[in-house]
Amino acid sequence: MPRVHISQHPVMAHKMRLLRDRHTASPEFYQLVKEIGSLLAYEATSSLALREQTIETPLQETKAYRLAGGIGVTPVLRAGLGLAEGFRQVIPDVQVWHLGLRRDERTLQALEYYNRLPHEVDLQVCYAVDPMLATGGSAIDAINVLKRRNIPRLSYIGIIAAPYGLLRLSQAHPDIDIYIAELDEGLNDVGYIVPGLGDAGDRQFGTF
Ligand code: PRP
Ligand code: URA
Repeated sequence: MPRVHISQHPVMAHKMRLLRDRHTASPEFYQLVKEIGSLLAYEATSSLALREQTIETPLQETKAYRLAGGIGVTPVLRAGLGLAEGFRQVIPDVQVWHLGLRRDERTLQALEYYNRLPHEVDLQVCYAVDPMLATGGSAIDAINVLKRRNIPRLSYIGIIAAPYGLLRLSQAHPDIDIYIAELDEGLNDVGYIVPGLGDAGDRQFGTF
């Protein structure tokens, strides 16, 4: 899977230990999701296009660069909210396109319940962000929704993936880059990632 990027950064591994720990309480968990979102944003934006421009320093004119074109981030509600916040700390002037998908606990199918994607599209790239890639259903659907907006380039950013979901997402959308912090062993019999971190939405928002 050549378009799958798994973080190799030691700071990421350090934060992942804290995130996975069952004793990490919601406020710290949410803070860690934001920090991991910033690290993943830094990795995922490393090949963005630049536009040259001339600026003046206090001493003289010089050549400088700005990011070319608009950048969008689509948090998949709810759990994607913390990741999107971390992304915005790296690139504050992103457009945030909210998309609500809820996984039916029985069928494991993703259901769309909220969509605030604008109709006018002026982005060079949009990142769908959602911490958990389990069966892959939610991520595949999120990218399907974004593809209907004809954005030139799409990527997915997640924290933990199960091999099954990662394979399904790469096969359904071979044209996108996928950035994750860590790849786990698999899924349990109710579709949770193991060893995982539990329910990423509940742990961020204290709803147990
Ligand atoms: C979780 C998670 C993903 C999805 C992953 O969301 O944030 O969106 O499940 O599972 P999948 O790969 O099998 O589709 P959930 O539906 O629990 O909603 P929440 O974010 O509101 O907690
Ligand atoms: N959603 C989560 O929040 N955690 C999982 O392990 C799977 C889906």
